[in-house]
Amino acid sequence: MGASALILAAGEGTRMRSRLPKVAHEILGVPMVRYVVDAARASGCDPVVVVTGHGAETVERLLEDVQTVRQEQQLGTGHAVQCAQEAFAEADGSLVVLSGDSPLITSETIRALVGARESARAAAAVLTAVLADPTGYGRIVRDEAGRLARIVEEKDASDEERAIREVNTGFYCFDARVLFEHVHLLDNANAQGEFYLTDVIDVLRREQLPVVAIAASDSAEVLGINNRAQLAEAAKVMQRRINRAHLLAGVTMRDPELVWIGPRVTIGRDVTLEPMTFLMGDTSIGEGSVIGPDSRITDSVVGENAVVDSSIVEGSCVCDGVRIGPRAYLRPGTVVRPNAKVGTSVEVKNSLIGEGSKVPHLSYIGDAEIGAGVNVGAGTITCNYDGRSKHRTVIEDGAFVGSDTMLVAPVRIGAGAVTGAGSTITRDVPADALAVERSEQRVIEGWSKRRREQDDEE
Ligand code: UD1
Ligand code: CA
Repeated sequence: MGASALILAAGEGTRMRSRLPKVAHEILGVPMVRYVVDAARASGCDPVVVVTGHGAETVERLLEDVQTVRQEQQLGTGHAVQCAQEAFAEADGSLVVLSGDSPLITSETIRALVGARESARAAAAVLTAVLADPTGYGRIVRDEAGRLARIVEEKDASDEERAIREVNTGFYCFDARVLFEHVHLLDNANAQGEFYLTDVIDVLRREQLPVVAIAASDSAEVLGINNRAQLAEAAKVMQRRINRAHLLAGVTMRDPELVWIGPRVTIGRDVTLEPMTFLMGDTSIGEGSVIGPDSRITDSVVGENAVVDSSIVEGSCVCDGVRIGPRAYLRPGTVVRPNAKVGTSVEVKNSLIGEGSKVPHLSYIGDAEIGAGVNVGAGTITCNYDGRSKHRTVIEDGAFVGSDTMLVAPVRIGAGAVTGAGSTITRDVPADALAVERSEQRVIEGWSKRRREQDDEE
């Protein structure tokens, strides 16, 4: 396409009432400005440059792979474009200008905007939308012939202009050279004392340069986020858009409104997502798996035909045929090999659970390597932390760890070995041995009966 893109993201976003810069606020686990960068790149724009300013360090940390320029003082959208001039010194042809606070834009719409300007050989093309409630947006003022004349900001608009329902979406395509020749001519004689990019349209028209307006095909795409109510609204639109794509690709959701999937998640066919499931970050789910209800999986890989029920999985790998939950917590660095089970109220951190092994109930497994075919009894705990440092536990293939075993790391249970229930294991157990650590049980015959008889006498 040969177009370049500039994304304005330097504003504070006062109406968010937040310490975080507006464009850093997240939708489905991803900062909103990232959606705009991705849409610009997907449309073929190169380079894509972001103007940062308010909270620049925070925003730039979210955009490590993106070229940024600083607008030290936020004097308006027109001023933001002025600050980026040098980055486009080489550019001739189309320059798309996008708002970092409008994350629902799609690459198709960006391409249409570029196409509209280029086919009309116009100096600028403005994307507009007709909204039932235009509050907060700049209004599109047309001349007697119905052509775009200028854009008036709500705060500067007359009552008559405020009644106009066609709005400026904040998405434009300019002839890059023409834009930078004229953007310095703006003044800030307006209600907000800012240099408005929108005034460029009026400047171009006065010079008899052609400008065109094109209507957005879907007004949901143009939602600009200025407050948290709009943030929630945008998240809802994004949720529906993403879920619909997965539904059409063969994923079952009993209630899609109650399933939240991040934009980078991949899901195989015949996966079922139950209500209150959250799949975030770089997560993938293999074919035939059932996730939820009440589950949160972040930055993890889940294989095929696995089950994750009412559980939290973070930074982990859950292989084919594994069963997780209910109420398990897999923390980063956990790998659960095929057909293993991590059951009710079990927490696992930085550990390997071998093929077919079972940790079915109420355990903590940390910094451990568990072989294949191991059974870990209920209530077993790896005591991995001595108050100073963490130590490893190794449980070899086929071992049987009795219920309520305390494994004081570093410690190793040999292949096929058994530990007695309730034992505190502090030394290595050789293969095929039994380790029991508990005092002998005393049995006092008739004790309970005698106590009952005493009670009756009193
Ligand atoms: C802007 C448009 C308005 C349009 C609306 C669409 C102007 C003057 N107005 O209004 O016509 O209907 O978007 O959403 O352009 N920014 C900077 N530097 C600045 C000021 C803003 O980079 O000095 C960035 C912001 O971070 C934001 C974008 O520009 O991403 C838009 O700024 P914002 O203040 O939200 O403009 P609106 O009042 O929404
Ligand atoms: Ca805005």
